[in-house]
Amino acid sequence: MTVDLIRQLRELEEEGARTTTAASSADEVERLRIELLGRKGRLTGILRQLGSMSAEERPRVGAEANRVKEALTALLDERIDATAEPAPAASGLDLTLPGRPRWRGGLHPVTQVVDEICEIFRDLGFTRVSGPEAETVEYNFSKLNTPLDHPAADMHDTFYLAEGVVLRTHTSPVQARVMEQFKPPVRVVVPGACYRRDSYDASHAPIFEQIEGLAVDEGITFVDFKATISEFARRFFGPSTRTRFRPSFFPFTEPSAEVDVSCQICGGSGCSACKGTGWMEIMGAGMVDPSVFENVGYDPERYTGFAFGMGPARIAMQRYRIPDIRLFYENDVRFLEQFV
Ligand code: PHE
Repeated sequence: MTVDLIRQLRELEEEGARTTTAASSADEVERLRIELLGRKGRLTGILRQLGSMSAEERPRVGAEANRVKEALTALLDERIDATAEPAPAASGLDLTLPGRPRWRGGLHPVTQVVDEICEIFRDLGFTRVSGPEAETVEYNFSKLNTPLDHPAADMHDTFYLAEGVVLRTHTSPVQARVMEQFKPPVRVVVPGACYRRDSYDASHAPIFEQIEGLAVDEGITFVDFKATISEFARRFFGPSTRTRFRPSFFPFTEPSAEVDVSCQICGGSGCSACKGTGWMEIMGAGMVDPSVFENVGYDPERYTGFAFGMGPARIAMQRYRIPDIRLFYENDVRFLEQFV
């Protein structure tokens, strides 16, 4: 009797181990657990026979039954873990993850500065216009009182597209185009790309933006020029900004000036950004030379005016403290997205 029951227990252990190891799902393992060890299962069936055994025989079979039960329980538990459903994250859908931000795009920082400057001049009565980037030598130089042997017209500074056609080296030719098209009073700002055979370094690029300004009417004086530019500087850079006008030379203005604003970084006391001067140059400018009026058919005895040209990339560099102008042209998104 004892020997027979122990054989039955060993068979149960052996078969249970085989079927458990082969089980491929948690459900199947659970079914086996009930079949082998459940209240109406096979182990229970074997133990029922214990009742008909003598008191001396019972402990040996009981101990064997316990050992088999423990061994099968351990195997079943192990199999449950192995066949468990994968965690939600591994199934590819994790609803707790944060959303992906959508890339919104944005205007280039130089474009933003151009727009802001043009809006200030719009409020001062200036219209925004544009002109061609491929320009004739006549408009780029001759009508602006710049003879071709002037250093500015030299091949070294200018990209020639064809005989007599260049990539404009400044936005000033649009002055002549506007004056030929419209009678005074004229007040325009002209943003646009310009090209020069400059080296490509921290402060120069062969393509760069300019904003031209032109105001022509009867009775415009240097005072109007100074007041307009000073007001622009206060609106753009801030109300405490000071301006200074240094004598300079351009073939198409007389007198000519370069305009500085008090350094945005140190406020005028001198720092490394302004090389200790307390000032930053923002534009070339002056009163329109009477010979330019003659070239475009305006009466120089009747009309006067002022013109200016500024570089918005330089101004953006000062405003955002950008040490290298090339950052504006390389368009690395990691740089650009800071201005969105
Ligand atoms: N066109 C000049 C330049 O590119 C700037 C300028 C514009 C000067 C208008 C005077 C008047 O340097």
